[in-house]
This record gives sequence, C-alpha cells and structure tokens, in this order.
Amino acid sequence: MSGSMHLAFDLSFSHTEGRWARPGSWAGTSFPDVRVFQELAMTAERAGIDLLFFGDGSGIPDTWRGSIDSAVEWGIQWPRQDMSPFIASMAAVTKNIGFGLTYSSTFMHPFYVARLLNSLDHVTSGRLAFNVVASSRSADANNYGFDQLMEHAKRYERMEEFVEVCQALWDSVEPDAIITDRETGRFADPAKVHPINHDGEFFKVKGPLSSVPSPQGRPVLIQAGNSPRGIAASAKFADLVFGAGSSVASQQRHREQLDAALVEEGRNPADVGILWSTQAVVGRSDDEARARLAETLEFWDEEAVGAYLSHNSGYDFSDLPDTIVLGELGELIRAQQASPGGLVGSLIEEFGPDHGISRDEFFERGWRHATHFDHVLCGTAESVADSLEENFEATGSRGGFMFSSPLSMPGGYADIAELLTPELRRRGLLAPQQENSTLRESLRS
Ligand SMILES: Cc1cc2nc3c(=O)[nH]c(=O)nc-3n(C[C@H](O)[C@H](O)[C@H](O)COP(=O)(O)O)c2cc1C
Repeated sequence: MSGSMHLAFDLSFSHTEGRWARPGSWAGTSFPDVRVFQELAMTAERAGIDLLFFGDGSGIPDTWRGSIDSAVEWGIQWPRQDMSPFIASMAAVTKNIGFGLTYSSTFMHPFYVARLLNSLDHVTSGRLAFNVVASSRSADANNYGFDQLMEHAKRYERMEEFVEVCQALWDSVEPDAIITDRETGRFADPAKVHPINHDGEFFKVKGPLSSVPSPQGRPVLIQAGNSPRGIAASAKFADLVFGAGSSVASQQRHREQLDAALVEEGRNPADVGILWSTQAVVGRSDDEARARLAETLEFWDEEAVGAYLSHNSGYDFSDLPDTIVLGELGELIRAQQASPGGLVGSLIEEFGPDHGISRDEFFERGWRHATHFDHVLCGTAESVADSLEENFEATGSRGGFMFSSPLSMPGGYADIAELLTPELRRRGLLAPQQENSTLRESLRS
C-alpha cells in the first residue's frame, strides 16, 4: 500500500433506505437497471475512483417484530441482486476501475466461490476484489438451512478455512501450466496442475480448480469484521480492510489493533490499508449541501429505522423498555450470536456499559446511525477534502475512504466525482491514474 489516498464507492445502499425516491435517483429508470451501474462505473473511472464495492446480504430483514413487513414496505436493505453479472457488464465498459464482490463464508461453499471469482477476474482483466463476510444477520442464516446464526467465533474459524481453501484452489494451477502447443496438441502440463486434498473441520475439497489462472492469480481479499476476532482474521489474509467511520479515536484504535495483529502474523502493517466507510454530501456551496441533507433527514419513519437496526444488531428492538442499560442490551445481542459492535457497541464505547438511555434517545441515535448521518461530511469540495486529508493523516496514511450511502443514485456519487476528486487530485493526495493495471497494482501505486 502506498502513501496515496485510495477511494471507493460503496454501491450496497444505492437504492435501499428510501434512496430510490430522492431527487437525482434512478431518474427514468428503476432498480436494478444495469445502465445506471454502467454509467456510474464510467463516471467513477474518469474521476480515478479505485473500486466500486457491492456489499451483500441475502435475507430480508425480519428481526423487527419478527416480520419482513416493515423492511418490504420501506425497502430496508432489500431488494438486493447478486451483483456478479452486473460486474461483468460494468467491466465491459471500463478499463481501470476495480470491483469488490461480497459472499458469505458462513453460507457459501469455497469451491463454488473460488471458481466464480476466478472467472470474474478473467472477465474484468484482473480488477476483482472479494469481500469475504462472516455474516451477522439471522435473516441470511435462515435462507441457508440454519435456524439461528452459527456462533461468532465459529463463523470466523470457518472464514479462515474458507479463505485457505480458496487460496489453495487459486494456486492449484501454476501460472505457466497452460501450453496450448498447436503442433503437438498438448493443452497443459499435468505436472503443474495439483489437487489440494483439503480435509478440514468445515470443508472437504479435492481440487484442483477447474479453470485456468486469472490475471491477478487471486482476487484482492477484503475483510470488514471490526471485533477483535474479526481483526485477527483480517491479519491472517486480508489485502485491504473496510473500517467503520464512527470517530477518529475509534478508527485509530482499529488501526492500532490491526497493526499489532499483522505483526503477530509476521506481516508488514504498511502493506494493509483500511478504507474508512464515509458519508460525504458535496455541494457547490455549504448551504446547498446542508439543504440536501436536511431534506433527506426528514424522510425517515420509525418502523423503517427499527427494521434496519434490528436486522443489523440481530435483536428485536420493538419491545425495548422505557430505559435501557446499554451493557445489558449488549449482552442480549451477544447471546443471539450477532455482532457485539454496531450501534449498541458504539453507544457503550461512548457512554459506558452502566449508562441508562431512554427508548426515545435510543431511536433518535439509531436513526442517525441507520442513515449514517452520525458522521457525515457535508459541505463544499474544499471543506470535505480538508476533513479527509486530516483523517487520512490521523489514521496512518494507509488506505483511504469508501464513500457510502449516497443521498441519491447516481447523483450523490456524480457530485463526488465532479467536485471532490479533482480537489483531492489538485492537492496531490491521490495516486496518478494508471491505464490497464490490475486492481492489486493500482492499490499499490
Ligand atoms: C464497511 C463495511 C462493509 C460491510 N459490508 C458487509 C456486507 O456487505 N455484508 C455483510 O454481511 N456484512 C458486512 N459488513 C459487516 C462485517 O463484515 C462484519 O460481519 C461485521 O462488522 C461484524 O463483524 P464483527 O463481529 O467482527 O465486528 C460490513 C462492515 C463494514 C464496516
């Protein structure tokens, strides 16, 4: 990882949580029209964005009141397509930008995923990243044969084995195994194609991979778990980490914990950047940006907020008492095997586990958390660039930012591409734009 700032657009929430209805969104089209994604990919590439990222979750949120109704009614984290064919179509109209695709190691099989990602790395000419997630939502688990989520630590053990199998499969056909000698008709050298004979706790895979090595060999590996166990998993295999952006102090702690874990694994902390999930509303004036934000803030409904928060925390907040002791709520969430982080984790960090918070305040804070407006950068390109520059330095100048939750799609990202990235480039913060490099290469520049 170089000292340059790298940028990504998170397209996981480009239509959910009411964004489909905001001015500047899906005008003349409706989700999931592939042309909107293609146009945005071209715009982002021109602006020098390194990566388009697609998060995933396959279950419709149903933790709130034990029902999918609120999520369906308000479009909360739903609908979501499998983005792999969309990536193929965006790759056809671009040359440099990378694509990050998410699959869950808790539910998928590594042979299928390794083979699919190998094909996508071919189709994108080496511009693919794999965001491997342990999954923290019971709605996802219920679609894959589980009544409840696998235990938190077990999910990470399975993730590490899943990645080990994928890596062995990607390495199972040596780069020079393919001969394609037209005179003799020999296609490949069998001495360079190896079974992996993996027999572990979770998976049994003979191998080798039934495809030819892809341009990057292995896609760039991304991991986003923020718990100590999640950070330990990142230190084992991640090339790039996604971090939550709640405060500079918590980001610095995350960076320190990751660095220590990387050193323990014998890896160089300078090689692994963190992209901080960041919401930026960029306008031609401060007033314009603030007005757009205020309009979106008016949009939310308590049922929608409840569906979002309960899904992400794995706990039904619909019957919370009038006063809630944060530490006790954290324990109840842990007991559901959901993530100890999230909204409740950050409230505990802010106020301490013994703090009692009223139900109303909990939902008010939750609403800002759900909209990501608890840490939004809002203003002109100059003022947002100042904040990013400061934040980049304060968190070790390794990685950069993943812009998330645009107010409108593609409008919110088009503003960043048109106004903010030229300002960052003018300040010399971004790496020079390269032609036809793999994603791994452009992240190193
Ligand atoms: C920026 C960012 C993006 C994430 N994207 C996804 C995603 O697409 N799908 C998913 O199931 N989890 C996603 N997560 C959640 C993490 O992968 C992880 O499951 C969660 O942080 C809980 O892990 P932990 O208990 O180790 O903190 C994301 C987290 C962050 C910070």
